[in-house]
Amino acid sequence: MITPAPSPQPLVPVIAIDGPSASGKGTVAQLVADALSFHYLDSGALYRVVAYATHQNNIDWDDATAVAACAKTLHIQFKHGQVFLNDTDISDQIRTETIGKGASRVAVHAVLRAALVDLQHSFRTAPGLLADGRDMGTVIFPDAVLKIFLTATTETRAKRRHQQLLGKHQPADYQAILQDLHTRDARDKGRASAPLIMAEDAILLETDNLTITEAVDFILLNYQQKMCK
Ligand code: C5P
Repeated sequence: MITPAPSPQPLVPVIAIDGPSASGKGTVAQLVADALSFHYLDSGALYRVVAYATHQNNIDWDDATAVAACAKTLHIQFKHGQVFLNDTDISDQIRTETIGKGASRVAVHAVLRAALVDLQHSFRTAPGLLADGRDMGTVIFPDAVLKIFLTATTETRAKRRHQQLLGKHQPADYQAILQDLHTRDARDKGRASAPLIMAEDAILLETDNLTITEAVDFILLNYQQKMCK
């Protein structure tokens, strides 16, 4: 009797959305994930949790070895859109400007990035994954079925962040935000390990003149086209 060879397991599809800070990526990515009933990986939140936990433990963000060692001890979970560290909800604490800056500082360490790879891969479960970050399409999920590089000019992003903070009744200085985005972009693009670059096979999506709905529809349309090929 000839036993047919098992057919190869189809890989769970991944849509990778990368781009700079405050590009509106998070909102768009979450809506695309919802529309497809996909899981959602907010990889930036992982770096934010590490920045938060190291800060709590008085670890210097520039000390790569200590930061990576601390990261390996953390139990990070995402539940219903909230972020938990060792069973405590720290969703609000990781969204401050200080922790955002810390996240961008710890993210330069190759040893930390390596420590977070398996955790990120573990999000790839059926029916699919929407992975949001800086290196999703280039490093973590190079076989993503669709790669989007979502961006906007620094001025547009600064205006959006400014409006967002005013909406939350938080102090907001447009010039300071603009300067901070320039600094973070330079750090994200200039680091040696997994710098922010557009993957060769990614589609550029500039959102300066797009509504959120238009950006979401663009990605959904491109995903359908990829899947129907
Ligand atoms: O996306 P978010 O602003 O939450 O990310 C926080 C920081 O984490 C970014 O400024 C970036 O430096 C870093 N990051 C990264 N790689 C990712 C996601 C985020 O280096 N995949």
